[in-house]
Amino acid sequence: MAPSIGSEVVASIPDLVCVTGASGHLGTWLVKRLLEKGYRVRATVRDPDDPKKTTVLKNLPEAEGRLQLVKGQLLEEGGFDDAVYGVDGVFHCACPTEFSFEDPYRDCIEPAVRGTVNILKACSKAPTIKRIVFTSSAAAVRFTQLEDIPEQRFDENCWTDVDMCLRDKPHGWPYFVSKTLSELKAFELAKEYKLDLVTILPTLVTGPFLLNKIPNSMADALSLVTGDVFHHNFIRRISYVHIDDIIDAHIFLYETPAAEGRYIGSCVDASITEAAELLKKLFPKIQLPSNFDYVGEIVPHYMDNSKLRKLGFEFKHDLADMYLSGVKCCVEKGLMTYPGESQDQSLTPNVASQNGAESDGLVGNHL
Ligand SMILES: NC(=O)c1ccc[n+]([C@@H]2O[C@H](COP(=O)([O-])OP(=O)(O)OC[C@H]3O[C@@H](n4cnc5c(N)ncnc54)[C@H](OP(=O)(O)O)[C@@H]3O)[C@@H](O)[C@H]2O)c1
Repeated sequence: MAPSIGSEVVASIPDLVCVTGASGHLGTWLVKRLLEKGYRVRATVRDPDDPKKTTVLKNLPEAEGRLQLVKGQLLEEGGFDDAVYGVDGVFHCACPTEFSFEDPYRDCIEPAVRGTVNILKACSKAPTIKRIVFTSSAAAVRFTQLEDIPEQRFDENCWTDVDMCLRDKPHGWPYFVSKTLSELKAFELAKEYKLDLVTILPTLVTGPFLLNKIPNSMADALSLVTGDVFHHNFIRRISYVHIDDIIDAHIFLYETPAAEGRYIGSCVDASITEAAELLKKLFPKIQLPSNFDYVGEIVPHYMDNSKLRKLGFEFKHDLADMYLSGVKCCVEKGLMTYPGESQDQSLTPNVASQNGAESDGLVGNHL
């Protein structure tokens, strides 16, 4: 409610928040949603003069007067001091997200961890900051011995086994290690600097996107649709969350004083076979392999989203929604055609999306 002085109602000034990695998939949606909600946003990008990274942000309808773009480079010591100075809150999204790196330490682990140190140090010098929401990942939970996890249900107490990743080097290991070490470092420094830190751990983020290329997570999620067999291994058993839900969860955690610690952000889990069955219903003409024996053994396991739901957050989008909205977005941007259709035909899914039909609370694994 707006505060009043005498009989005069004084409009409260909306919070100013900093979003790092604002040119990325999650970053652009987060900036968009924050502006829509009335926030003022200071967004960091590596190069504010690069139109490829800034045009989407500058063109957001609410950007005028409420969006500032500033430089933010993870490896630059003190590089976020100006960006966070005077803000009410910080959403730290920036992180290398590729799965293949020339030098895993130099290109992935070091920027993620040193970047986290730089952000937290900058925040420690900014007395106005009420809360930091750190985008971690299910990758910081999921990569450990499955048999050690009761009922194969991962929750916020689970941490990826860094030693195991360094020893076995599963595909994507630098990213898994970077997310785990950077989240641990964030909690360590938040305690030392007495900062209020909450982390959100998304699974595979699926649905529409603002950028003009298919984001990496969508390339994984849509690999059945695009016939990209290399990625089928990643989705043999995986958990998904819609971009709308995960962005709302970030803001919900910022706005909910009772939030504390880690929160898994995941809605649905599915095996590749279950995903393929759904896709066949959504897009009857889609061409899919007759079996998925080539992806190897599929051990069921789940991501438990109950901590976030108990805090009052509701997921709104099921897997059908994620596929339909994601494919529609790709087609509208001219990045693909509808599954099984020629370019000039339109999407005619024969299964209505069950918007609002939440999963049974079991949620998947991975990213
Ligand atoms: N998408 C998912 O499914 C998913 C799932 C779990 C967690 N996450 C987490 O969500 C966050 C955003 O991911 P995303 O999917 O939006 O990935 P993205 O599109 O690749 O965005 C990553 C952002 O980080 C920035 N960045 C990378 N290295 C940087 C550096 N050295 N200095 C400054 N900025 C740097 C990128 O800047 P440039 O644009 O200049 O490259 C980009 O803006 C990440 O923390 C990721 O780990 C994502």
